[in-house]
Amino acid sequence: MKKKLSTEEIKKIKFSKNKLSMVTAYDFISGYIVNNSKADMILVGDSYGTTSLGYELTNQVELTDMIRATKSIFNNQINTLLISDLPYKTYETKAQALENAKKLIDCGADAVKIEGGTEKEKIIRFLVENNIKVMGHIGIKPQNITKFEQFKILGKKNNEKMSLMKDALAIEKAGVFALVLELIQSELSHEITKKLNIPTIGIGSGEFTDGQVQVFNDLIGYSPFKLPKHAKKYSDVFKIATESINNFIKEVK
Ligand code: KIV
Repeated sequence: MKKKLSTEEIKKIKFSKNKLSMVTAYDFISGYIVNNSKADMILVGDSYGTTSLGYELTNQVELTDMIRATKSIFNNQINTLLISDLPYKTYETKAQALENAKKLIDCGADAVKIEGGTEKEKIIRFLVENNIKVMGHIGIKPQNITKFEQFKILGKKNNEKMSLMKDALAIEKAGVFALVLELIQSELSHEITKKLNIPTIGIGSGEFTDGQVQVFNDLIGYSPFKLPKHAKKYSDVFKIATESINNFIKEVK
């Protein structure tokens, strides 16, 4: 049986030859599958909203959604580090962030993830000082996205490069144990990875990060929608499910 890694062990993997893997999960069954895979971490991502709740954007996800998803995964008696997203507008002040982070921890999360760079530095530091383990998330921050066109690679322009590097350093200093880099130009994410002493976990940010994260539904092809460019589909569960149901209907008829 695999051993659950602590956040300290996750940090050390940066300096080993291994790469880190993180996969999202949203309910009992996806949590069960990811927990029994070789993934190092399970992320209860707020992509829950777009993959499972029928929302157009993740900024519609509420804390109650994340609590329910976290609980349903934790009910598996999991042995994989579990990180839950604090959803949009639930970490605007230090007090609000701490209160809401504790709610996710109380229902089974080992850590929370927060989207934001320098603007969230003080809030992250406060959480860490209060014994909450935090994973950072910079680059494209889906909670701030209002139109699909805004999903584009960042870090091509000099000003973007400087501000993303500044974000990464500030968040590391604030005490996060790992940092998600979403849609950051590959050379820049490589630079950030070399500069930091905590692991970077990339999504659409090239191969030179300390690990990769992918969305459960994208990996298994469990979605009616076109996948993002950076997603890799390893099977077509959507097709298999549709065929299975139609086979049942055929037999019934
Ligand atoms: O919610 C999510 O799935 C995420 C990943 C894209 C990192 O935040």
